[in-house]
Amino acid sequence: MSQVESVILKIGGSAITDKSGELEAKTQVIDRLAEEVHKANIKQLILVHGGGSFGHPSAKRNSIKEGFRNPNQLIGFAETHHFMTVLNGLVMDSLIMHGVPAVSISPSSCMTTEKGRIKTFEKAPLKMLMKMDFLPVLYGDAVADAKIGFTILSGDQIVSALAVQFNARRIIMGVDVDGLYDADPKDPKSQKTAKLLPQIKLVELRRLMNTIARPNDADVTGGMSGKLAELLPALDHGASVTITNALKPDRIYKALKGELIEGTLIEKG
Ligand SMILES: Nc1ncnc2c1ncn2[C@@H]1O[C@H](COP(=O)(O)OP(=O)(O)OP(=O)(O)O)[C@@H](O)[C@H]1O
Ligand SMILES: [Mg+2]
Repeated sequence: MSQVESVILKIGGSAITDKSGELEAKTQVIDRLAEEVHKANIKQLILVHGGGSFGHPSAKRNSIKEGFRNPNQLIGFAETHHFMTVLNGLVMDSLIMHGVPAVSISPSSCMTTEKGRIKTFEKAPLKMLMKMDFLPVLYGDAVADAKIGFTILSGDQIVSALAVQFNARRIIMGVDVDGLYDADPKDPKSQKTAKLLPQIKLVELRRLMNTIARPNDADVTGGMSGKLAELLPALDHGASVTITNALKPDRIYKALKGELIEGTLIEKG
C-alpha cells in the first residue's frame, strides 16, 4: 500500500456533459474546472471523470455492462470506449491548455474486471507519474472482464479503488446538484421538498442508501445510488467524501483547498 496520502477528484459526467442528449460536452464547464484544478495546485491529486452523454447512451444501446452475448456488441464496445476517449480528449485539452501536467491513463489498458468488479490493475505507470507530480486522469470506461467478456467500469468504482490503493484522505465528487439530498432534487415529485444533507456518518449513509432510487434512464452505473454503493469501501478505509456541485464556480477549487463549501461531507465516524 502506498504511504503517500493522495486526493481524488471525480468530475461527474452530469457536470461536464448534458446527460439529456448524446455526445454533448459542456466545454465551458470543462474549461472552468481545468482552471480551478490549475489554481488549486494540489500535489498527489488523481482525477477521474465520468461518462455522461458520451458513455452511458452507447453502453446502454449495446448492453455493454451485461457482458458479451453476441458478436454485434463488439462494435458497440469499441464505440463506447472510443466515445469515452473523445470526452477524455476534451478534458485533457483543457487541462493542458491551462498549464496542468495531466496525463491520461486509459482504464481499459490497465484494468480488468471479474463480473464487473476490478480484478487486475497495473499501477506502475500511475505510481511513477505521480512520483513526478503529474496529474493522472482516468475515466469510466468499457473494459475486458474475465468472466463476462467485457463490461462497464464506472468512474465511481475507479475512484473508490484508487482511494483504497493510494490511501486517499479526501475524495471530492463533483456532480450537477449541491450534494446528497434525502430525495432526488431533480425528480419533479421530490424537487420541492428534498433537503440537502450537509454532513452524515457512514452508518447513517448505509441506512439511507435503501431509500435512494436507482435511475431508470440511460444511466448504466446506478446514478447517485450506484455512486454511494461504490464509495463504501473508500469510506470504510478512512477517506472522507465530499459531494458538491461542480457547476457552481469555485466549489471544486475550494473543495480541493479544503475550504468549507456547500455540499455533503460523508465520514466513517
Ligand atoms: N438523493 C439524491 N441526492 C442527490 N442527487 C440524487 C439523489 N437521488 C438521485 N440523484 C441524482 O443523481 C444525479 C447524479 O448522479 P449521476 O450518476 O447522474 O451523475 P454523475 O455520476 O456525475 O454522472 P456520470 O455517471 O455520467 O459520471 C443527480 O443529477 C441527481 O438528479
Ligand atoms: Mg454516475
